[in-house]
Amino acid sequence: MSGATVIDHPLVQHKLTHMRMKETSTQGFRRLLTEIAHLLCYEVTRDLKLGMTSIETPLEEMDAPILTGKKLVFASILRAGNGLLEGMLELIPSARVAHIGLYRDPKTLTAVEYYFKAPAHMDERLVIVVDPMLATANSAIAAVERLKERGAKNMRFVCLLAAPEGIEAFNKAHPDVPIYTAAIDNRLNEKGYILPGVGDAGDRMYGTK
Ligand code: PRP
Ligand code: URA
Repeated sequence: MSGATVIDHPLVQHKLTHMRMKETSTQGFRRLLTEIAHLLCYEVTRDLKLGMTSIETPLEEMDAPILTGKKLVFASILRAGNGLLEGMLELIPSARVAHIGLYRDPKTLTAVEYYFKAPAHMDERLVIVVDPMLATANSAIAAVERLKERGAKNMRFVCLLAAPEGIEAFNKAHPDVPIYTAAIDNRLNEKGYILPGVGDAGDRMYGTK
């Protein structure tokens, strides 16, 4: 039991390999993350509830399936979460969005909050938290805590890469929130980076250092 669902679709794995390559450009990295976000979103929303609605095709009436319930929320952990967010919004444009601004203190690796904004009625919505990297899990744990404070009860966490240490810490802190990831890497280095990883996701997405 790894404590996370690995989305091992060949297209996800192929695109992830290109993201890992150090020569992949900023533009290429962003594009690949958006494309992987489509595929992860497809998997993580597999069990969304459908109701029936009566419609007319050009030929006749029928009862057709349609999503029911309150709009779901994508909760993006800034900055790098926005890469996954954009791809997922292309698939579910009517979703609501929460933003949680967090950065890792480089010395302590603890998460420092600088922004938080979430839609109303969080308790009635599915909340899909997105961040490409689950390293120590300090950021993801803090983000989910804040969302729970705002009433969220039904959550999933989606990332690109997870470290075994991060999965263990996150499952301990939030056993009610399942993790979905494209891969589980080997370990963290002494600076808290995932090995072999993709490097610093935010810097690679935005060309910063
Ligand atoms: C990165 C990443 C996660 C966090 C993961 O963000 O996007 O939010 O690190 O590390 P953790 O699991 O050890 O908390 P970073 O703090 O570098 O901020 P950025 O996205 O603004 O670059
Ligand atoms: N944050 C990143 O962007 N990359 C890592 O490997 C770990 C944390």
